[in-house]
Amino acid sequence: MRQLFVAGNWKMHGDKASIKTLVTGLNAQADSVGNVSVAVCPPAVYLDYTKNCLVASNIAVGGQNIAEEPVSGAFTGETSAAMLKDLDCEYVILGHSERRAIYGETDAEIARKVKTALGMGLTPILCVGETLEERESGQLETVISTQLNAVIDEVGIAAFANVVIAYEPVWAIGTGKTASSGQAQEVHAFIRGQLAAKDSAVAEKVIIQYGGSVKPGNAAELFSQPDIDGGLIGGASLNADDFIAICRAAG
Ligand code: G3H
Repeated sequence: MRQLFVAGNWKMHGDKASIKTLVTGLNAQADSVGNVSVAVCPPAVYLDYTKNCLVASNIAVGGQNIAEEPVSGAFTGETSAAMLKDLDCEYVILGHSERRAIYGETDAEIARKVKTALGMGLTPILCVGETLEERESGQLETVISTQLNAVIDEVGIAAFANVVIAYEPVWAIGTGKTASSGQAQEVHAFIRGQLAAKDSAVAEKVIIQYGGSVKPGNAAELFSQPDIDGGLIGGASLNADDFIAICRAAG
């Protein structure tokens, strides 16, 4: 049985006051989430502040991106995997569709970042997903397998024992349009099948989160699907009550 995992992606939101309020709410309710792994991923500048506000020992912290170069160097504006480790982060989100679409991150670049994260002992949350146009033109499986294979080719299938995958249909992110549990399950099963074709034991173990307009009202139905192992939550992770309710749905 896989332990479900819910992570909050705060994206570029928050300031010290709002993070204090949010984390105070999480601390107060963290005991009620049950048997689920939980993490929050604040903006890099607030990682240390968030960590310091967090009292709940069952909530881990992760970053939202790293540089390809693992340690340090002349890379203005970048954050290294070593820096995240130094701040006691356990996770890093990589290949989010916003990084792909807005900042032009390629499959190859994302694959190298996954390698860097693994080398530094961080667990990558590797995001994959198709646009509406890709889905409607029948390219869903090709898009997902291309995104996945780029990383498998770089790090090898065995390394996926330490990778979390987040399936995030781009058309469902921040739009209020959630994939139906059936649509999501179908893609999750496809992803697990792609991994199983290379290593069935790894495929059985890998956590595959769903992301895209997950809310307290739809989380339980999504998480009840056999291949959906939790969620990567955007908007709803900025409200403590909503985020905890989603974690409870997985716990
Ligand atoms: O990383 C999280 C996803 O982009 C989902 O965002 O829950 O606001 O749709 P959302």
